[in-house]
Formats: sequence, C-alpha cells, structure tokens
Amino acid sequence: MSLLKIARMGHPVLRRAAAEVADPAAPDIQCLVADMMATMIDAPGVGLAAPQVHVGRRVIVFRVPGGRGGEAGVVPPTALINPVWQPVGDEIAYGWEGCLSIPGLRGVVPRHRKIRLQGLAPDGSPVDREAADFEARVLQHEIDHLDGILYLDRMQDLTMLSFEEELHHFDVT
Ligand code: NI
Repeated sequence: MSLLKIARMGHPVLRRAAAEVADPAAPDIQCLVADMMATMIDAPGVGLAAPQVHVGRRVIVFRVPGGRGGEAGVVPPTALINPVWQPVGDEIAYGWEGCLSIPGLRGVVPRHRKIRLQGLAPDGSPVDREAADFEARVLQHEIDHLDGILYLDRMQDLTMLSFEEELHHFDVT
C-alpha cells in the first residue's frame, strides 16, 4: 500500500471523463482502492476520486466522520466502483465544500439533499441505497470528479468562495 500524489486543479486529468471499470476484482483495481483509502486518510480528506490520483477510472472512496453525518451518521472509509446517483425529491441544500485538488479554498455549493446511490463494492457486490445530507454531498462531489467536474463549476455565487483562513468571516454551518 502506498500514498499517491494528488493532482491539483490545472492538471488535465481532473478535466477528463474517467472510464468504467470492467472487473472490480482485478488486482490493479484492488490495489488502487487500498492506495486511495490510505491517501484519503493521510491527506486528511472525506473523499477522493481516482482522477485526483491521476487514474482515469470510475472509482471513489469516501467517509463521513462523526458529527457530520446528519441522517446517515458515521460512515467508515468506503469504496465504490462505477458509482451513479439520481436525485430523490427536489430538495437542494447549500453547503461548504473543499477539495484536495484545490487546496486552501472552500466554497458554497448547491447539491441535492437526498440521492439514490448505485454502484459496486470492491468485492463486486451491488450497492443500491439512499444517501442524504453530508454523505449525499460528498458522493455528488466525488462522482462529479469522474466526469471532469470540480465543485467550482457548480457554484452559483463566487462571493461564497473563500480561503480557509478567512472562513471565520462567514456564517459557516
Ligand atoms: Ni474534490
């Protein structure tokens, strides 16, 4: 297991659509998942998509630390292969996001509050469940990375973009 170098905004890999994984059990995918988990935890971050470590495959890892879970509660480090989502209901929530590929910044991004998540676990078993609140936000952010989309692209008001050190000027919830 090794820590991977994280691509920063400007690197073209972050703007390319990633390719579907044909075989989640393939050794290179298993190795990628383990390395991405270690890299996310080391960073530390709450999510990481394969293009962020220069790999154009549809793989994400994420977690929901204690205190940020909303309905979902704590989610341990989890990997998903070929993840897709669709909105459940039409509720939009605005929340602060950051990205390991855009260090030092935070911005307010609109996301669907509740989603249906589908994909494969690393053992190849199907995942089909709902996610809400912070977990739904992280998942939408990470799956966007698989299509070359960064959270800045989703922002509606760039006055709500800030350096982390200046966040105290905002009413951060
Ligand atoms: Ni990101």
